[in-house]
Amino acid sequence: MTKPKVLLTRRWPASVEAKLQQRYDVTLNETDTPLTAQQLQAALQQYDAVCPTVCDSLPAAVLTVENKRCKILGNFGVGYNHIDVVAAQQQGLIITNTPGVLTESTADIAMTLLLMSARRGAEGDRLVRSGQWTGWCPTQMMSSDVTGATLGLIGFGRIAQAMARKAHYGFGMKILYFKPSPAAPILTENLPAARCDSIEQLLSQTDFVSLHCPGGVETKHLINAQRLALMKPTAHLINTARGDVVDSVALIAALKARTIAGAGLDVYENEPQLDSGFLTLDNVSLLPHLGSATIATRTAMGEKVLANLEAFFTRQTLIDRVV
Ligand code: DGY
Repeated sequence: MTKPKVLLTRRWPASVEAKLQQRYDVTLNETDTPLTAQQLQAALQQYDAVCPTVCDSLPAAVLTVENKRCKILGNFGVGYNHIDVVAAQQQGLIITNTPGVLTESTADIAMTLLLMSARRGAEGDRLVRSGQWTGWCPTQMMSSDVTGATLGLIGFGRIAQAMARKAHYGFGMKILYFKPSPAAPILTENLPAARCDSIEQLLSQTDFVSLHCPGGVETKHLINAQRLALMKPTAHLINTARGDVVDSVALIAALKARTIAGAGLDVYENEPQLDSGFLTLDNVSLLPHLGSATIATRTAMGEKVLANLEAFFTRQTLIDRVV
């Protein structure tokens, strides 16, 4: 029997690529360079399954290409705001994603950024490397305490709750959260966390604000100039969700004017082309979208895609079907 043709748009952990190659007729992206819109369209015409990832843009203009062979987009990533889901649905394309396996590693990066921002970690590293450090003194690089401070989480899904557990049980932090629907279930039992009625209420009461909502039109610039103005001047903003949840121009202005103390960012509007205004600021810590970047997590993400493809090609119920 001929094996289904599968395309991976980027390199994956070698162990998962090898497993996929045993089951399918797999094409790897040997150079690991992002595919153009035309290459993605050609992929949709030539493969039974295309496995994109979070940096591949799949708008309606790409998805509506004629003579598609592809039936399933096995997305390597939990976020799928880079795919026009409505267009995919209209085109009869199934989308799967990889929830659950990147929860702890992403929450770890959010906690890393919180600590870096609070304790001026990146700035300290730059000072030492620059050769400008003149030695310890009582007033050098004083910063903010994390232990016992209040953390506000916007969005309260798996990753936010994992961060809440680490912050509360590891650092004695008080936890507030906002999520749009009070009815949606909370996954972690007995986690002492209080729900705020509005984002505004949360912003004005917290020392650290961490974003955990999905990207997309509904959350674009959720954190704008007006909302940044509600944060305490001593507060820090952490974003491991999606770049366009925050208005970068407004954030740069707030950091420059020190109306907030700092920010820790793992994601950017139009990444990897981030606003150059961030580069000259000392009170922002910048990471290159590292949330899920551990060997174990990236392997588990690949295995999830593999399991979803397996279910699809053996006509079983899909495990992580988005549409
Ligand atoms: C995802 O899976 O959506 C993450 O952003 C990748 O780290």
